[in-house]
Amino acid sequence: MDERKQAIYTPAGGPPAGARPSLEILIEIGEPGIFSLLEAFYVRLAESRIQHFFPTGESEMVAASQKSAAFFVQLLGGRPLFSQHFGPPQMRRRHFPFEIDAAARQEWLDCFAETLKDAMAAGTFPAAHEPSFSAFLESFSSWMVNVAPD
Ligand code: HEM
Repeated sequence: MDERKQAIYTPAGGPPAGARPSLEILIEIGEPGIFSLLEAFYVRLAESRIQHFFPTGESEMVAASQKSAAFFVQLLGGRPLFSQHFGPPQMRRRHFPFEIDAAARQEWLDCFAETLKDAMAAGTFPAAHEPSFSAFLESFSSWMVNVAPD
């Protein structure tokens, strides 16, 4: 799987065991709401400091966002869209091809925070559930880091 020369760093403590975000998010905004949210997130990623990790074409980015949306629908207690289409989530392993350090993770989190801010302002994400959703992102994203700190 790993084609990198350097050893892959594993964050101490193993996978985070934090709470999942509230299932009510999916009930409130539905699968289309999750897909729109992730599409907006990928638009931000395409303009971010970590854009080099991602595909360049607009339709490729939409396709990539749909893959992530499938994961979030599943995470939120909806249909197991990710597993059905792409197999076992194994998220950390799926991120091995990208050298994700603490700064890359922070940029990813900042893009998501801005996306959620816009969505709440537009009334397309329930503000009451932003804390649990962001807490999940904060915790789970630490497990995607695979480059050791300096
Ligand atoms: C809460 C944490 C995260 C979740 C839930 C998540 C979710 C996902 C999912 C579901 C995929 C598709 C996997 C596949 O290709 O089979 C993906 C791909 C990807 N993720 Fe993440 N991710 C997280 C954190 C991060 C972070 C911190 C970064 C980088 C800074 C990152 C960068 C990428 C990249 C570059 C791809 C491949 C995009 C593509 O070409 O399709 N992810 N992520």
